[in-house]
Amino acid sequence: QYKMISIKQLAETPGLDSIPPTYVFTRNPNDDDQLVSDDLEHPIPVIDFSLLTSGTPDQRSKVVHDLGFACQDWGFFMVINHGVPESLMKAMREACEEFFSLTEEEKQEFAGKHALDPIRWGTGFNTSANVLFWRDFLKVFAHPKFYSPSKPSGFREISLEYTKRTRNLARELLKGISTSLALEDGYMEKALNLETGFQHLAVNFYPPCPQPELAMGLPPHSDHGLLTLLMQNGICGLQIQHKGKWVNVNSSPNAFVVNLGDQMEVLSNGKHKSVLHRATVNEKATRISVATVCGPSLDTVVCPAPALVDHENNKPAYTAMKYGEYLELQQGTTIDGKSNLDRL
Ligand code: SIN
Ligand code: FE2
Repeated sequence: QYKMISIKQLAETPGLDSIPPTYVFTRNPNDDDQLVSDDLEHPIPVIDFSLLTSGTPDQRSKVVHDLGFACQDWGFFMVINHGVPESLMKAMREACEEFFSLTEEEKQEFAGKHALDPIRWGTGFNTSANVLFWRDFLKVFAHPKFYSPSKPSGFREISLEYTKRTRNLARELLKGISTSLALEDGYMEKALNLETGFQHLAVNFYPPCPQPELAMGLPPHSDHGLLTLLMQNGICGLQIQHKGKWVNVNSSPNAFVVNLGDQMEVLSNGKHKSVLHRATVNEKATRISVATVCGPSLDTVVCPAPALVDHENNKPAYTAMKYGEYLELQQGTTIDGKSNLDRL
């Protein structure tokens, strides 16, 4: 019987002062890897969500404009005044922490075997170079059918409410992004069947690492889906690629960091890019991040929006692909940049 050894368990080994060689991540020297820039030098755009839904027409059109800029120039933005209660966010962070604090024995029950098991606890296996990552994760399907691990108590209720609220927030943001692309505000709702859209909850757990500069929590990758809403526990680690540099993103527990996924890049015909990001680790504190990916319904064939293509200057740049098939490919293969996007 296959038994998973978690990074949590390894990190808690008494006296651990170096990492096993299988965890040493070789940084690609051509990857502008050393160029880490500060969030202050390149502040990622901030979107005040309340102005999108209840601002004056002028405020609304300014936010839509800012959203369009953030999507095109960054592929990442921070959302504040988003309406998701801070108490719910806190409860969700605590529930996630409790999940990873279950005993190894209790968690084994959720050790999924297949990439698309609806509930899957796992650790940092798969990669191109046989390197392991300093991260345990819990991935759960939240919509259209909701799943939850049976432990810890309360996880089901809290994650149900959390995923519902974040899904609704994502759908409102997608209306603003549709408008910013000069599409009808309900375009994505209809064309991508968001009523039955797929939502994936991915909780990442990065324990303290004795040699953080040698290890990697999550290697550079882009996300599947349309939008990822990320909540963090106040510990930094996320870096995003922007104009050839890795930019440190700050970690405010009450804001969402939102990034565009691969299906958004396809739908917008490359106008909006799904951006590479990665998670570094640190020596002192456990970092938990809670990502929720909102996507089309799994049987939707995603292709560039017809209104955004023509046969002169805006030729279709991506092949059409069923989202469910894409997901299987993306979750089942090694993590390696954006290799899954099929460009024409
Ligand atoms: C992710 O890319 O899914 C999570 C990154 C992070 O932990 O901040
Ligand atoms: Fe990601």
